[in-house]
Amino acid sequence: MKKIQIIDSKKHVGERVTIGAWIANKRSSGKIAFLSLRDGSAFFQGVVVKSEVDEKVFDQAKSLNQESSVWVVGTIQEDSRSKFGYEIHIEDIELISEAIDYPITPKEHGTEFLMDNRHLWLRSSKQHAIMQIRNEIIRATYEFYNNKGFVKIDPPILTGNAAENTTELFQTRYFDRDAFLSQSGQLYMEAAASALGRVFSFGPTFRAEKSKTRRHLIEFWMMEPEMAFMNHDESLEIQEQYVAYLVESVLKNCDHALDILERDKELLKKYTELPYPRISYDEAVEMLQKNDFDVTWGEDFGSPEETFIAKHYDKPVFIVNYPKAIKPFYMKKHPEREDVVLCADMIAPEGYGEIIGGSEREDDYETLRKEIIDFGLNVDDYEWYLDLRRYGSVPHSGFGLGLERMVTWISGTEHIREAIPFPRLLNRIYP
Ligand code: 4AD
Ligand code: MG
Repeated sequence: MKKIQIIDSKKHVGERVTIGAWIANKRSSGKIAFLSLRDGSAFFQGVVVKSEVDEKVFDQAKSLNQESSVWVVGTIQEDSRSKFGYEIHIEDIELISEAIDYPITPKEHGTEFLMDNRHLWLRSSKQHAIMQIRNEIIRATYEFYNNKGFVKIDPPILTGNAAENTTELFQTRYFDRDAFLSQSGQLYMEAAASALGRVFSFGPTFRAEKSKTRRHLIEFWMMEPEMAFMNHDESLEIQEQYVAYLVESVLKNCDHALDILERDKELLKKYTELPYPRISYDEAVEMLQKNDFDVTWGEDFGSPEETFIAKHYDKPVFIVNYPKAIKPFYMKKHPEREDVVLCADMIAPEGYGEIIGGSEREDDYETLRKEIIDFGLNVDDYEWYLDLRRYGSVPHSGFGLGLERMVTWISGTEHIREAIPFPRLLNRIYP
């Protein structure tokens, strides 16, 4: 008999098949048992009718525990009442392994309890839907950049210098010297852009940030494109096209997952309309001050400020040209202003905060060298990076999109901890 996955049911309507599955839930009466089956690919219903099967099979169906694993044999049928659209009429069940007292029952559980059981919580339909959206965003990223001729480059995870803020570095021993876990692949991506023109990376990054918010992870994954011969305005166009493409791809390929998450698809559709608005940091400060926010020019925005600004738009918004003093050393100075840099943060709507940070890079050797020293960094560690300005320096720009911020926003999830399979948080490295 053919062994199939639940997700392929529609190709097997009317056929007798075998499916390996877990019991997600169950309800039964004297005459009929409904098993909610999941096999990893999807969830659907198995129906066992007492009058149509051996008594043994019906009794077994009624006695199955949540998360016990089984082989079921039956016929696939259309099921117009369910959103999934198909079900299996079961004729036989073989128990593979019995699960006793599965901790995550269908009732409500507290967050700490679910986090302690993250390895099991991942099996629930909501987490399943979020992981599918995460996967689609990764898949669409490769598609978007490959279609545009970008080359995927893998920067190192163990590094000898800081790419962003030196206070947020994870230090580790590297034989007889110190090394750091990568905060960003950017500096290496700049080297790669001078070799291959347009490149992108996708990998884990680490920030020893003592932030305990619904937007911060200690370990998160970032997509970092870097483009030679591209100025900052051109980079903004790539950024908005990329984000719109990700939203479009999720709408197209994760319809069922969005239903499970009860995400408003009409709202998501608006995010595919380009361009996204651009406002300057100066304008943002003015807007905040007019509305009684206690901010002065030169300060970074926190999440209440970002949320307030984002509320004025029905799409993501770029805030451009932040003060130089609050941004990293590598950003290029504005040609007409000493105090701001050619950079932008893309702020997501609905209070999801910054999803992209990017800039044009300083391409002048002397200026960059001075910035490195002024930032209190050790120039020796950056000689290789300065080489990129010694040998054929060109205007170039790039940006980083935080995968989990994107997943949290698109799936409409409250907290970033659900956007990654095993979140690393300030007070948590278990499981
Ligand atoms: O703004 P960030 O720090 O920029 C960089 O690292 C640049 N080197 C990127 C580049 O130009 N190649 O981080 C980029 C994005 C943020 O916009 C946010 O989406 C995400 O990474 N991010 C985090 N996500 C989860 N937890 C954290 N602690 C994050 N810090 C940044
Ligand atoms: Mg940033």
